[in-house]
Amino acid sequence: MVLNFHTTRVIGCLLINDIIAIFVENSTIMRRVYLYLMVALIATISVAQAQAQAQEITPVPYQVSKSPYTAPFDATQRLKLYTNLEGEDRERLLAAAEQTGLNYEVVDNRAEDGAYFNIVINRNLQDAEEYHINIEERGIVVDASDAAGAFYAMQTLRQMVESKPDGVWDQVLIGDHPRFEYRGVLIDVSRHFRSVEFLKRQIDMMARLKMNRLHLHLTDAAGWRMEVESYPRLTSFAAWRTPATWKEWWYGERNYVEEGSEGAYGGYYTKAELRELVDYAADRYITIIPEIEMPGHSDEVLAAYPELRCTHLPEHQGELCIGKEATFEMMERVIDEVIEIFPSEYIHIGGDEASKENWKLCEDCQRRMQEEGLESVDELQSYMIHRMEEYINSKGRQIIGWDEILQGGLAPNATVMSWRGEEGGIAAAAAGHDAIMSPHAYCYIDAPQDAPPTQPEAIGGYLPLEKVYSYDPTPATMDESVARYIKGVQANLWAEFIPTDEHYEMMLWPRAIAIAEIGWSPQNEREYSHFRSRAVDIVERMMAEGYNPFDLRNEIGNRPESMRPVEHLALGKSVTYNLPSRYYGPQYAAAGDVALVDGLRGTWTYSDGRWQGFLGRAGVDVTIDMGEVVTIHSVAADFMQYCGPGVFMPCKVEIFGSIDGENFEPLIVIDHEVVPADVPSFMTFGWEGEAQVRYIRYHAHRSNYSGFLFTDEIVVR
Ligand code: ACM
Ligand code: ZN
Repeated sequence: MVLNFHTTRVIGCLLINDIIAIFVENSTIMRRVYLYLMVALIATISVAQAQAQAQEITPVPYQVSKSPYTAPFDATQRLKLYTNLEGEDRERLLAAAEQTGLNYEVVDNRAEDGAYFNIVINRNLQDAEEYHINIEERGIVVDASDAAGAFYAMQTLRQMVESKPDGVWDQVLIGDHPRFEYRGVLIDVSRHFRSVEFLKRQIDMMARLKMNRLHLHLTDAAGWRMEVESYPRLTSFAAWRTPATWKEWWYGERNYVEEGSEGAYGGYYTKAELRELVDYAADRYITIIPEIEMPGHSDEVLAAYPELRCTHLPEHQGELCIGKEATFEMMERVIDEVIEIFPSEYIHIGGDEASKENWKLCEDCQRRMQEEGLESVDELQSYMIHRMEEYINSKGRQIIGWDEILQGGLAPNATVMSWRGEEGGIAAAAAGHDAIMSPHAYCYIDAPQDAPPTQPEAIGGYLPLEKVYSYDPTPATMDESVARYIKGVQANLWAEFIPTDEHYEMMLWPRAIAIAEIGWSPQNEREYSHFRSRAVDIVERMMAEGYNPFDLRNEIGNRPESMRPVEHLALGKSVTYNLPSRYYGPQYAAAGDVALVDGLRGTWTYSDGRWQGFLGRAGVDVTIDMGEVVTIHSVAADFMQYCGPGVFMPCKVEIFGSIDGENFEPLIVIDHEVVPADVPSFMTFGWEGEAQVRYIRYHAHRSNYSGFLFTDEIVVR
């Protein structure tokens, strides 16, 4: 239920404000009914006047509704703050009120005279985290369904003060509540350890944006980060590695070292630190969801406790042995200690990306499968997840797992976090399980957010703010029976390539702002250009406060060539793929045999359906038939290089021309030294001159770096 005023602009008058004040003292349900009536009555007479004077208050996330009146309210005046909140919620509210920048004193009873600032819990509001703010002639009235709602009202007021520092506010009604109950961010502290102070800074920002879940990725191969008293080597050994650079470590020996030894890089949180962090987040209505990865992503656990490896002692193993009871003994003790620290209803137990190969060779795993009647290693993983769920449920908690926990059968009460796409979340929801959407195409903000050649090394292609913002977790096409189980949305920021705090903040913000707004605001109120201008304001404010967000004002945006189709002589001509170079795709076929002459240039990503990817040894070898002999002055094609996923520049490009299609004369031979680099690059390989041809052969040779060649268009002029 919301006050659905946002399409109607009305003006206030003494009458309506007095009536509101009276009803605030009585019943809010009545008040809501009355307000609807009043709006209906006066809207028709005053729309134009109100629109002319309406003051733009633009919080992020954008609120559900508001309805401005015209008479100004002096937001700088001294207010009397009264609240009926009690206990720690009262303390939290007062701390948040202090941050609004409003001028007030706290009083024990509603102000009889002077300007009031009343913040009341109103059980008649029906949505969790809902709040209303009335800026009235004589004061501010906040009513909220719960303490979190009151806290969020303070965040909105803070943004109002920031955006109107002169304090001249129109009288306004705001009705606001979240679209989704789960609005989260994953922070990866395994790949690079982050301080408690750093996490608190991000929590502060999340709270201002009305986000309410911090998923802490506490364990992974690169380091275990939580003190566990019953398994001390998790922190005295598995939390430390050398070298510090993740890539060197991962592609090198993957050494773990003793705490305090020379060059040891890493760290962990003591239980006291984690409790402090949990309390800090709770004071901002943020729940920390701890993630303990199992059975995969557990290399560090096996390094510290090698007895949990499979029996055939594989050289590298990242998966716990599910055949051994000791694995369950350990994970249950770990969960005991996790539960003792984290009050979260949900404990995330990972479940992603387990290679199941070792289990096929392990005597213990095979015995387990036989005894339990498990027919596949998928079912073996599912056995572990089921068993851990049962244990965690017995402690009164619930599990969340990555969408791979669907494989081999979903545990009965599990919530699925959908990352490989949306399919896992949808399948879980269709089966009546809760799901949280975090599909990598929109929510994996470890990808570069601007032109990749200008950004630090990163995973993934290109994920600008606009694309993140375009995500809708429950589009209108989704069946309501599925959508009701989609509990929210989360941005995931993996840290393999993000060694420093400054870099981490730059990746996190402003894209997490988009996730906050997706999670909070109604889909039909969301519009990118409006959001972007508000996001720029927040970025500027964050920078002034010492944060290091990506400076949106300098955003380059998508690859200029991709913005509009290119006109050239070969457009729509016939292209022959000279065997064996035909082997583009099928994943990267783009438009198939017409892709290189369809006028569509690629974006910054090779997976955009415009770039054609060639995996074969022969590289790209195509002949274009111009249909008749023509005079040409240039032939050129662009290539990209993304070394991480194995996309390289050609080592040589040959371009030929022919009149008859039999005898080809070389136009140019270009040799190119392929130099792997951390940052993606784009290059044009072409010929310029003058020639009479009917046929053009373009041959780009693959280098010794086996991988893909990607090109998008052979432009002939
Ligand atoms: C994941 O990105 N492996 C959850
Ligand atoms: Zn095993």
